[in-house]
Amino acid sequence: MKMINSKILVINGPNLNMLGLREPTIYGSKTLSDINSNIQSYASAMKLTCDFFQSNCEGEIIDKIQSVQMGYAGCIINAGAYTHYSYAIRDAIASVDKPFIEVHMSNVHAREEFRHTSVISPVCKGVIAGFGASSYLLAVSAMRDLIKL
Ligand code: DQA
Repeated sequence: MKMINSKILVINGPNLNMLGLREPTIYGSKTLSDINSNIQSYASAMKLTCDFFQSNCEGEIIDKIQSVQMGYAGCIINAGAYTHYSYAIRDAIASVDKPFIEVHMSNVHAREEFRHTSVISPVCKGVIAGFGASSYLLAVSAMRDLIKL
């Protein structure tokens, strides 16, 4: 019988540790830990397990992305503002042969011009943006289909 790795990684980038306090009219009032526990319950109902990682540092995010190759079936990533300009994060994602899903809580296309560009979208399987904390849950559901559990 084929063993399927059902462990996924959820990465949050800079300033997402400030959720709950940060611009609540845009990002809502839930903290990152509230959001992560919702993701955990949602994922376990789909027989997925999740690890969570947040960092404000580009290099730490890159190290974690590289760990996906050996340790995970796929990765959900909200790279925060790095989304818009980090070629290093883009290259890290491209170097891993596992599905990545790009997530944003806000609808980046309805915001400032600089948020309309994502340098990571071309190396991700898809993008979910604009549904607040539910963006992550939609990504978990999409990931479950991608890894064919
Ligand atoms: C964000 C959108 C980015 O433009 C911003 O820099 C963030 C959060 C989102 O989740 O909507 O930090 O990725």
